[in-house]
Amino acid sequence: MEIIFKESTQSTNEDAKALPENADHIAVCAKTQTGGHGRLGRKWISPAGNLYVSFCIRLDNLAAAGNYSFLSAVALAQALESFGLKPQCKWPNDLLIDGKKVSGILLETDGKSRLIVGIGVNLLPVEAENLLYPVTSLANEGVETTPREVLSRLVECFEAFEKLPFSAVLDGWRQRAYGLGQPITVNLPTGKVQGTFYGLDNDGVLLLKCGQQIMRITAGDVFFGEQGKK
Ligand code: BTN
Repeated sequence: MEIIFKESTQSTNEDAKALPENADHIAVCAKTQTGGHGRLGRKWISPAGNLYVSFCIRLDNLAAAGNYSFLSAVALAQALESFGLKPQCKWPNDLLIDGKKVSGILLETDGKSRLIVGIGVNLLPVEAENLLYPVTSLANEGVETTPREVLSRLVECFEAFEKLPFSAVLDGWRQRAYGLGQPITVNLPTGKVQGTFYGLDNDGVLLLKCGQQIMRITAGDVFFGEQGKK
């Protein structure tokens, strides 16, 4: 992976989208972002000291893009494990430590042949409890390191997982799955559904048990326990 380092930028995802058409396995990493964004149009506040990186990946078939959702989460989980942390994967691609979000991943496509995998990892201490979900950081978990060190371990794990079949990626995800068997609420564009987190199928689709029925969820925001019920 070639890595382009920037001091400040609006969003590394936008920079990665602006790379030449044939760009492949090129990462853009910035110290700060002025317009960092997350899923569902949320802002991703980006002070210097955390990791902000976007990988531009060329795919023959954009149908495989969803696989990268799991691959990125598992690769980052493995990278964080190398610091002695115990991250868990929350469907589809959040990483949690003790139930608190340490990283966010945003996948976007250019609609043609390129996938942008944007990854933010919290390194700096965080204090405020976010209203939507609890947050943590490497510093909060007792790990002092740099964004570049996290990035270098992430790239190594990412490239290693890319060489494996998707079934191995999903197994890695399942081994680190957060909240299996627990009650969850899924926010869908059509409304909320509640049930039990039953597992993943072999395509990474979330299986939600509602009474005797198993619902297949391909996209949505997942909340555990009391969160998200209101
Ligand atoms: C989320 O959990 O909502 C996803 C957050 C993704 C944030 C990263 S930081 C690097 C890249 N640039 C962006 O503007 N967003 C992603």
